[in-house]
Amino acid sequence: PAHRPLAGRHILVTAGPTHEPIDPVRYIANRSSGRQGFAVAGALAALGARVTLIAGPVTLPTPPGVGRVDVETACQMAQAVAEALPADAAVMVAAVADWRVEAAGQKVKKDGGAAPALTLVENPDILATVAAAPNRPALVVGFAAETEHVIDHAVAKRLRKRADWIVANDVSGDVFGGDANSVHLVTAEGVESWERMGKDDVARGLAQRIADALQGEP
Ligand code: C5P
Repeated sequence: PAHRPLAGRHILVTAGPTHEPIDPVRYIANRSSGRQGFAVAGALAALGARVTLIAGPVTLPTPPGVGRVDVETACQMAQAVAEALPADAAVMVAAVADWRVEAAGQKVKKDGGAAPALTLVENPDILATVAAAPNRPALVVGFAAETEHVIDHAVAKRLRKRADWIVANDVSGDVFGGDANSVHLVTAEGVESWERMGKDDVARGLAQRIADALQGEP
């Protein structure tokens, strides 16, 4: 039916930040609130999709009709995503940490000597991994938070990560943690710049586009 165009579809969404432990009591994080990803999950469910939302540490309620898996680290998120496949579409909204710390097993102590150095190790790129997976969803969508050259970086990111679409966010203003978002939808066909609107409206617009794109898929 027209009002539930995603009925029978399974869609995977990642959202929120990740926390990368330094030791048992400390971690590295980022300012992602998870709001845009949670809004996308809710909007897809509202169109009838079965949604698996893989969420980093956030304090947001689960949107109605959404199945949620909570994770802490990028590696846990990658694992949860792999376990949630297959899906008809994947929308990777999470602000995944690029690096994890070679974490200490015990709390790092001040010992009066030199400050400890953190050794960083690159995290798996979950979006690129899903886009290259043998059971790749028909539609893979990434987000890109940029502060400059927003469209150029998003066009390059779409190709590099083999995503079908990139939703490019201009985060030079107050997007992180805020209510509104100003996005460009980058596809193989070109770039569409959407007017600045609430994150819920961005989510509804994107969910409708995903429904349109999956219409032709078996
Ligand atoms: O490279 P960058 O972090 O800007 O790419 C952002 C996009 O890639 C987002 O869709 C984000 O969810 C995804 N990503 C990911 N795993 C990473 C890093 C980014 O899925 N390790």
